[in-house]
Amino acid sequence: MDRYEQVIELAKRRGFLWNSFELYGGAAGFYDYGPLGSTLKRRIEQIWRELYVIHEGFMEIETPTIGIEDVFVASGHVGGFSDPLCECKECGEAFRADHLVDKIVEIADALSNEELDRLIKENNIGCPECGGELGEAYEFNLMFKTSIGPGTGRQGYMRPETAQGMFVNFQRLSRYYREKLPFGATQIGKSYRNEISPRQGVIRLREFTQAEAEIFTHPEEKTHPNIGRFEDVTLNLYSDEAQQKGVIEQMTVREAIDRKIIAHEFLAYHIALTNNFLQRVGIAADKLRFRQHQKDEMAHYAIDCWDAEILTDRFGWIEVVGIADRTDYDLMAHAKTSGTELVVHVEYDEPKMIEQFVVKPNMAKMGPLFKGKAKTVADALKELSSDELDKEEIKVTVDGEDFTVPSDIISYTQETVKVSGEKIVPHVIEPSYGIDRILYCTMEHAFEEEMVAAEGEEEERIVLRFQNEVAPVQVAILPLLTREELMDPAKQIAEKLRNRGLLVAYDDSRAIGRRYRRNDEIGTPYSITIDYDTLEDNSVTIRDRDTMEQVRAPVDGIEDVIYDLVYG
Ligand code: GAP
Repeated sequence: MDRYEQVIELAKRRGFLWNSFELYGGAAGFYDYGPLGSTLKRRIEQIWRELYVIHEGFMEIETPTIGIEDVFVASGHVGGFSDPLCECKECGEAFRADHLVDKIVEIADALSNEELDRLIKENNIGCPECGGELGEAYEFNLMFKTSIGPGTGRQGYMRPETAQGMFVNFQRLSRYYREKLPFGATQIGKSYRNEISPRQGVIRLREFTQAEAEIFTHPEEKTHPNIGRFEDVTLNLYSDEAQQKGVIEQMTVREAIDRKIIAHEFLAYHIALTNNFLQRVGIAADKLRFRQHQKDEMAHYAIDCWDAEILTDRFGWIEVVGIADRTDYDLMAHAKTSGTELVVHVEYDEPKMIEQFVVKPNMAKMGPLFKGKAKTVADALKELSSDELDKEEIKVTVDGEDFTVPSDIISYTQETVKVSGEKIVPHVIEPSYGIDRILYCTMEHAFEEEMVAAEGEEEERIVLRFQNEVAPVQVAILPLLTREELMDPAKQIAEKLRNRGLLVAYDDSRAIGRRYRRNDEIGTPYSITIDYDTLEDNSVTIRDRDTMEQVRAPVDGIEDVIYDLVYG
């Protein structure tokens, strides 16, 4: 068994996660979280909320998981959110064409379908299932389609990212934040992608949880007010340049900014914050790196992107977070498709005198030409440059409608005017987390097998060395024997600890040694044993999961002792 198999076996056995629909034979790409898995997930999400929502102040919103077509036409997902699909001519199985060649070339997902076909032919790659001949690669859109309303309904899609919910609410968010840049919004929720062949278990899912922040910034303001917080943090960087050399470079955030390895402070800040989060939930520092996207693999919306990648036993480096500079791509795209300006009005500290064209349309002539729209067409003319105004036929678009204005009914002059602010289309920095992948990696990095002494003999134990903060059970209450005189005080102690806000499991079944092992396997950092001495001296034994050391402590105040151990 490799580490993945070991972790998944434990995860299923102990109630973390398992394949969905097992009763009916299952379906690839869907996993259920059991009692411990759901709690672990909530713990991870809670730390994310603490950092992004509470600390950064990026308020959380909640938008539908189904979106209407316009949204995904504007975002580019209808046109371009696809992977190359290759079907076996014999057994009909489908495969991602780039995955078929990724052992031969470095960045297979940057290749065109023609290049993929050529590589598949040249290397005699057959169907991985039956060895049969493969058909030509074609683009397969990854969005799940649905219809909204009965009958043929209105075309809808399950959202492939939570991000669009933030973009389409930009105007409302901007008003909420009083148009003060930078501001951000976050969302934790399900996203859906009809992945072609999700053969990587929990790593590639068709329904998964994303935690995304969209941070709207001034396009010319690239310095981050709080960068000082992270300047001395050391990152493992695998920049475009480092990838050419094949080495991961270690450097501080300040050095990465000064050497222009990370383009600007906003990106650097969010890379460092991601580094902080991932280590806090238990990702091993030496198995974490930030890899810069190469130009030809960048998503259609980004000019720069760094992936947080985690080293796993079976899959090698896997992407768990993408931190992208999306520029004004999304706001411009939604503005164009919706015909609504998506801008903020930035007030200058001091009014400025600027040279400006003052356009004077002849409203008496505009009126009959454009009927009720004359005023909006006249306003739109004010946005044009002198080159555009010099044309014989001047074109403007208002609410998605094109208008042609004859040049002889307008005049313009250049004047010095006093302006108090300007309209800005903000740029977006986006950290986008995949919670399920992070959860799996915390389990793999916490997983350890070791030999321990038990009753004079060596015995193997499996332990999940979770960080206390994410452990789904923080303390186990174990009466030594199933006798009422021990079970009753044990239950009272459990209640005290629950009232203190701790995650408690009361367990009185089977021998104490087995219960310790079970709690080691689910990563419970502390166990409390209630024995006959407890009845005498009102004290209990606290056992530490990692060292297996046991100490006696009084029952009075035990809730504070455990709380301090967990959060101290
Ligand atoms: N809004 C940007 C965006 O969605 P992405 O790189 O496509 O970017 C972000 O996705 C994160 O979501 C990834 O880093 C990964 O952790 C997670 N993710 C993407 N597709 C996934 C899948 N099929 N299964 C599980 N997690 C996935």
